[in-house]
Parts: sequence; C-alpha cells; structure tokens
Amino acid sequence: MSENNKTNTKAKKGLFVQSYGCQMNVYDSERMVDVLAPLGYAPVEKPEDADLVVLNTCHIREKATEKVYSEIGRLKMQKEAKQKAGNGDMMIAVAGCVAQAEGAEIMNRAPVVELVVGPQAYHHLPELIARAARKSGEVLDTSFDAIDKFDALPIKRENTGVSAFLSVQEGCDKFCSFCVVPYTRGEEFSRPFAKVMDEAKSLVDNGVKEIILLGQNVNAYDGGNNIGLAQLIEKIAELNGVERIRYTTSHPCDMRDDLIAAHGSIAKLMPYLHLPVQAGSNKVLKAMNRKHTVESYAETIAQVRKMRPDIAIASDFIVGFPGESDKDFEETMALVREIKYASAYSFKYSRRPGTPASAMMYQIAENIKDERLQALQALLAEQQTAFNASKIGQEVDVLVTGKGRNPGQMLGKAPWQQSVFFAGDESMINKTVRVKAVGAGLNSLAGELLKADANA
Ligand code: SAH
Ligand code: SF4
Ligand code: F3S
Repeated sequence: MSENNKTNTKAKKGLFVQSYGCQMNVYDSERMVDVLAPLGYAPVEKPEDADLVVLNTCHIREKATEKVYSEIGRLKMQKEAKQKAGNGDMMIAVAGCVAQAEGAEIMNRAPVVELVVGPQAYHHLPELIARAARKSGEVLDTSFDAIDKFDALPIKRENTGVSAFLSVQEGCDKFCSFCVVPYTRGEEFSRPFAKVMDEAKSLVDNGVKEIILLGQNVNAYDGGNNIGLAQLIEKIAELNGVERIRYTTSHPCDMRDDLIAAHGSIAKLMPYLHLPVQAGSNKVLKAMNRKHTVESYAETIAQVRKMRPDIAIASDFIVGFPGESDKDFEETMALVREIKYASAYSFKYSRRPGTPASAMMYQIAENIKDERLQALQALLAEQQTAFNASKIGQEVDVLVTGKGRNPGQMLGKAPWQQSVFFAGDESMINKTVRVKAVGAGLNSLAGELLKADANA
C-alpha cells in the first residue's frame, strides 16, 4: 500500500462523494475525503470530472435504497461517455448503509460498481481502491471495527465550514422493530473522550464555531471515567473559539438528568432538542420496541422546558406502523398538539427486510399512510410556523454561514436552528451577528441587523 501511496501522491485525482443519508452519513463523506487526500484525491464539483465517485448510501427506507440504483445507472452512462471521449476513467464505489446491508449483491445487480465498502470500514479505502484498480475481482469490505476506524482517521479536519459535525457515538443497541440501523451500523460504541477532544480542538483551529455532536444515540455517549454527553458538552464549551454546541440524535430513554440540567447551565448549548418519539400511542410504541411511553416522553420534555423555557423541540414520526388504528393515529395527533413542536421529520412506515416489523401482521395500506402523513404534516407545519412567528420582535444571534439568494442578502442560523435572512455584507460570514426578527415563515426568519458583531 505504501508503494501505491508514493506513486499516487504526484498526480491530482478528482473525487466526488455524494451523501444520501443522515448527518452521520454526511460526516462519513467528509472523512472519506480526508482519508483519500494523502493519495492525491481532491474534491471536484461534478461526478463527470471525477476519477472516483463514492455513493454514500442510506438504507433507512425503501425509497432511499432504490435511489442508489438509479444513480448508479446515470453514472454508468457518464463513465462510458468519458471513456469514449478519451477523458480517462471513473471508478464507481458504493459506501454507507446499503453497502453494509446488501454487500456483494450490489455488484451482482450493477456490475459497473467496482468497490463496496461499509460504514465501519471506509478507513480501508486507500487499499481497497488499489485492489479495485488491479481489476482482479470483487472488492468488498463490510467489516465492523469502529475503534479501528476512528483510530485510522486523520485527526486533522479540513474542508469544514463555520459549523461542523463531530461523530462521538455510533451504532445502536435499541433494536426498534422497524429500523435497520442496528444491523447496518453495529453495536453502540463511544469514542474515547480524549480523542473526541482532540478532534474538537482541530475543528476550532480550523475556524469552526459551531460543533454538532453526532451519534445514532448520541445521549448514550460514554467516554469513560464518568464522562457522559453532559460532561463532554461541558468540556467542549470550555474550548476558546467554540460558540455553539448541538447534539443529535437522542433517544428518550437516555435523556439523563445531568443532560437535562446542561440545557439550563451551559450557555453555549443551543436551545434545540431533537428527541424522536415516533408515535403517540403506547400500544404502537410497545410494538415498535421503543421502551418508553407517551407519558414518560412528555415528562422528559416538560423537565427540559423547565431548564430552558424557550427550547425548540423536534421529533421524528412514523405513520402507518403495522397495526396502527385510527385511534392510535389520533393519539399521535393529540401528543403533537400537547407538545407543540418547533420542527419535525415525519415518514410513512417503510417495510425493511430483516426487521421484526416487516414480518408483522396488519400492515397498513398505502392510501391510509398517505392520509395520515398529510394530516400530521399539516399540523406540524402549522406548529413550526407558529414557533417561528413567536420570535418576531425578539433580538436573535445569528451565526452567518454565507450569502442569501438575493443581492446584499446574508444567511445564517438562529439558536433554535432556523435559517435567518438579513441585509448585510460578506465580511459577516463566519461571524455571529445580532438581528431583530421582523418576519417568519415555515423554515426561516427575516431579520434586521442590529449589531455586526454580537460578541463585541
Ligand atoms: N437513531 C435515531 C435516528 C434513526 S433513523 C433515532 O432513534 O431517533 C431516523 C428516523 O427515520 C427515525 O427516527 C424514524 O423516524 C425513521 N425511520 C427509521 N426506520 C424507518 C422505517 N422502516 N420506515 C419509516 N421511517 C423510518
Ligand atoms: Fe433505529 Fe431505534 Fe436505534 Fe434510532 S434507536 S437508530 S430508530 S433502532
Ligand atoms: Fe441512513 Fe445509515 Fe444514517 S441507514 S439514516 S445512512 S445510519
């Protein structure tokens, strides 16, 4: 492998990595770029300019999985056009959760794919690419070794914006009956505290001001020596340069008292909590194997709100889980009315091969799922708009991420996670400004600049 490294460093090669999944999938894509940089690979804007295209896939719902195959079909045509025109070649690799779940089946179905690598094995990419380049047969790596992976990834993080993801926990032992994640990502694993801090410091050195801690069950983080997520957040908050900390996604059963308290005591911890409930009926929650009740969930939210009254609460919902009756669905609507969400993701139940729910009786008809999704989404949209409108007239600190669509317009993030548009200039990018909220829509706030540097 070192031989390959040496020869490859000289020539610059184009790399295109496309994410199809959750935030952790996006983080993994960034890390693949980091792993491949020493081999001379640099990101390009379009797949047709790339010598290597990596599709970083998601297996969570059927639609996500099917998207991969249509994308492979498109890439195949681009690869052939490139070869015909004498513009070199394009290696096509499939990574991520579909790679883990389907393995060699992907190459059987789409022989143009030369390499398949799972989410816990992508640090092996340099040697896998060298093997694929020798064209001596299938190249497949779906091994599971999260410790090994994180140890192999470069600590130094480049190519980040002002806000960056930092994976601290991976995998899931919860086994919700609908979900593929425990199978595609493996067992719960937390990165040691010291390693996480090293990466956080590297992000700060790179100009990052907002760190988003990631995990499939991030609030189950256990960094050793009694360092849970609350203590980790506290330590990261002590780093000079860090202005904002967020974490996602959490499980209601792992919402410990110290983490709830952190929402009241750590100013840099942003007032936003994504705590998926999935459904508002205890019968359905039980069948989902969620291990919490509607009441315990509502109680957790009440406690968090006691600590941080303005907190934005977000959730995920699944409608049409097997056996969900009209009454069960009404209970979900009632819970939503009670909690009042600031934002939410909602999905129709998708039957995933190998999960217990896929074999359950009383699967729900597609048209009923559609109706329920529409009703739920209408209610959630109403609440989201109301939450945003409640900020009108308030002073809001905005972390500016870039330019807006219109000339002279800048774009940033509010503490509660909405986009904020305001008139400003490019010197404000990567800084925190203060605006007055003067308008609100479904996904964004409009602001008027009060202070070009909120920290001054
Ligand atoms: N670990 C996180 C996120 C898991 S996947 C958590 O527990 O919250 C993100 C969301 O996808 C889930 O919260 C769930 O709402 C949805 N999801 C997972 N499996 C699904 C399926 N089979 N059908 C529809 N939605 C699903
Ligand atoms: Fe999937 Fe449940 Fe684990 Fe979340 S907690 S990743 S929904 S099994
Ligand atoms: Fe999808 Fe895997 Fe994330 S299945 S949601 S990319 S953990």
